[in-house]
Amino acid sequence: MRILFVASEGLPFSKTGGLADVVEALPKALVAQGHEVAVVLPRYRGTKASAVVMPSLTIPMGGTRLRFPAIADGAVLNGVRYFFVDDPAYFDRDGLYGGSTGDYPDNAERYAEFCRAAIEVSKRIWPADVFHCHDWQTALVPVLLRTLYGDDPLVKNVPVVFTIHNMGYHGQFTRDVLDRVGIPQSLFHPSGIEFFGSVNLLKGGLVFSDYLTTVSKKYAEEIQTPEYGHGLDGVARNRGDRLVGILNGVDYTAWNPEKDKWIAAKYSAEDLSGKQVCKQDLLEQFGLSQEHLGWPVIGIVSRFADQKGFDLIAEKAHELMREDLVLVVLGSGDRKYEDLFRALAAAYPGRVGVKIAYDNPLAHKVEAGADMFLMPSRYEPSGLNQMYSLKYGTVPIVRATGGLDDSIEPFDVEDGTGTGFKFKQYTGEALLYAVRQALHHYMDERIWKRIQLNGMEKDFSWKGPASEYAKLYEAARALRGSPQDSGQAAGGLAPPPQSSGKATAGSGQTPRAAGRGARNQKPVTTSN
Ligand code: ADP
Ligand code: GLC
Repeated sequence: MRILFVASEGLPFSKTGGLADVVEALPKALVAQGHEVAVVLPRYRGTKASAVVMPSLTIPMGGTRLRFPAIADGAVLNGVRYFFVDDPAYFDRDGLYGGSTGDYPDNAERYAEFCRAAIEVSKRIWPADVFHCHDWQTALVPVLLRTLYGDDPLVKNVPVVFTIHNMGYHGQFTRDVLDRVGIPQSLFHPSGIEFFGSVNLLKGGLVFSDYLTTVSKKYAEEIQTPEYGHGLDGVARNRGDRLVGILNGVDYTAWNPEKDKWIAAKYSAEDLSGKQVCKQDLLEQFGLSQEHLGWPVIGIVSRFADQKGFDLIAEKAHELMREDLVLVVLGSGDRKYEDLFRALAAAYPGRVGVKIAYDNPLAHKVEAGADMFLMPSRYEPSGLNQMYSLKYGTVPIVRATGGLDDSIEPFDVEDGTGTGFKFKQYTGEALLYAVRQALHHYMDERIWKRIQLNGMEKDFSWKGPASEYAKLYEAARALRGSPQDSGQAAGGLAPPPQSSGKATAGSGQTPRAAGRGARNQKPVTTSN
């Protein structure tokens, strides 16, 4: 099968979060299973291309406006073919989605051009059997395919699988954006891409794609509830028979203490001694004294966003620091959390180390050198760091939500099973309780080692998830009447719909919660 990934970021070229890890690792895993995969990404500043495939594509943008991006060749890496949409005025900028003053004001135009160009890549360069799109930046691919391209013999029957990595980022714009980017006004209704008077691109992706996936089973359930749906839970429920949760995997070629090139000493489940060397190194990296080497180090590596639950830490910071522990924090983002952690470092010198930065080598050092890894997320579609932590013998303490709930089993001292510590209630008290449980078990070396080994034995490789995606691509092709490659039955998946052609798959229902903000990349709400 020929699968065309369309995404706004992907390693090794661009990254702001876990999406980029997924967009690198899943194509690799699909190639390993015999599929052909190409990835279309924007050519951001610093993205190197090896050649120009098409010097100029003509992209209509609404009205009489045209743009002329090039398609650059990113060569073949790990068997995966890369194409870049190259329009320097749009993509050769400091940031991917915005700068210090916020989101770029022309993000709708940037990603509308990107989506149209991605469709043209399939038409002219790399004919796809299925599109796999990710998050709101790529939602116009299914919208356009099933509307403006609905009679195009080259792409009208190519199905779209759309993955929601985060329901909190909508790509929401005022109505005038339709004319600015050339989306038909006829789509502006509650069963289309209208969302309480605004244009909501994520909603377009949810409505017009053949299958929807999200990045854990738990999150697939959660987004159908008002608490986690960010106002789109009604749409998610309406598409419930086409919504599948597939937990993300881990790329163990990048995240494995036996091979990690960034850490001070390599180690394995058979011989954990290197982990202590990593701990010493970590304290040094964060300018912390070695006098607390015997105390547990709790690590955090994160985007600083409301989603990540740091308000719980703010609430209980001083009680937390009354315990015998060391805290190391690597992250950047929301100013209020940067200030919170800076203030903690100032209040507890030698015991709290903070780096406000995005630093991949240091992220590896935290995974290896910390004893525990804290993710108190308010919501977490999948989360990757808790799974990286398991491999490094770094015991996760997580809130039981989304992928955190699906990937971490609570430790049971009676039978010695479980990989971490979980709390359910979104309260500082519950967080503190889980941390104290972990600290308690850390005191018993034998028990602690059991927990570490339980985690290190887990296999969260991409093999299983990649097979699940492949089945779903086949199911999506069957829906649109494409011949299947392998004759593989799409076991357990929803039957083909009654009608096809120009999709009118509407939500038929207006999402409930209104007025939760209308920004582009910023989470739509964080207060659920
Ligand atoms: P999200 O995508 O919501 O940010 P994930 O857990 O899926 O959360 O993925 C985050 C990814 O970004 C991980 O690979 C993590 O190591 C990385 N990361 C997050 N913050 C930083 C940082 N400050 N420095 C380096 N890597 C980071
Ligand atoms: C999002 C989510 C995160 C997930 C990542 C990759 O950024 O916040 O939980 O792991 O996407 O799917």
